[in-house]
Amino acid sequence: MKTTTLSLMLFAGTALAALPAQAAGSLNLICSADVVICEQMTGDFQKETGIKVNMVRLSSGETYAKIRAEARNPKTDMWWGGTGDPHLQAASDGLTLEYKSPMLDQLQDWAKKQAEGSGYRTVGIYAGALGWGYNTEIFSKKGLKEPKCWADLLDASLKGELQMANPNSSGTAYTALASLVQIMGEDQAFDYLKKLNGNISQYTKSGSAPVKAAARGEAGLGIVFMHDAVSQTAEGFPIKAIAPCEGTGYEIGSMSIVRGAKNIDSAKTWYDWALKPEVQSRMKDAKSFQLPSNKSAEVPKEAPRFEDIKLIDYDFATFGDAEKRKSLLERWDREVGTAAN
Ligand code: G6P
Repeated sequence: MKTTTLSLMLFAGTALAALPAQAAGSLNLICSADVVICEQMTGDFQKETGIKVNMVRLSSGETYAKIRAEARNPKTDMWWGGTGDPHLQAASDGLTLEYKSPMLDQLQDWAKKQAEGSGYRTVGIYAGALGWGYNTEIFSKKGLKEPKCWADLLDASLKGELQMANPNSSGTAYTALASLVQIMGEDQAFDYLKKLNGNISQYTKSGSAPVKAAARGEAGLGIVFMHDAVSQTAEGFPIKAIAPCEGTGYEIGSMSIVRGAKNIDSAKTWYDWALKPEVQSRMKDAKSFQLPSNKSAEVPKEAPRFEDIKLIDYDFATFGDAEKRKSLLERWDREVGTAAN
């Protein structure tokens, strides 16, 4: 066989092999969970479906703002991960699409309720409780006491040791704000946050950054979801996760299809795929230790269990409301954010 014929055949073969991927289409996805799980999910999805994913990692509040800004000409098809409140806010603004996945019946009640409460414009994919993680080496070196309660975080000995995220950008920090309001009442929660500000060295953009800083020894403690603290422990850092003694809030991590999405079929394929038990069971491989929403998915042994944590009855309808979000964040900017600058 002549070389030209051979290379032609090879070329045709390559072109054919490339075809299914092209025909399978593409998906523009914003991922609001941790970047490691975002990359694992997109890699696995591409391999299994041939659909090409363009993924960007943005915090939950940032994504909500972007989807709002692009409402007339959406550039995003799918929003996967991040706290449920901004997904609910997007749903109530009509920014996301109603979709009833055939997988819904396989989900935990809390995940189904998230779907029902939003008119099927979002759905729960994982859950996790809020708390903090502290660096045990730093604390013992400095002779600091283990903070077990929200009240302990105000102790003067912790000045400059704490980090949390900014609730405007981060869903984690919005969950903290909304949880404190539910535990203490709004005025007392803002009093608390103003005092807490005295111990905070930095408000980060993303929710898990504070405990990553604590792991590296750049801070003593990060107010984060407990599973984010546990993943630093699993990485080998001296981080201990704490569930606050007064009680705490939790997230129902969610996903939504953007209304007006250009790649609607790819988005629905992702949606159904991401609710599969085997896909959710693999999340632990990325040290993502949330509680999965599919009842048959494996609960990682590292996952902080709700049974062991004093949880509040988080009011998702009230705190997932767009007006409530706006008013709480404006008050936070006025009373806490300005003092922080
Ligand atoms: C981390 C957690 C997720 C959470 C997300 C919210 O990645 O592991 O469970 O949904 O933070 O991110 P954000 O940056 O919006 O606080």
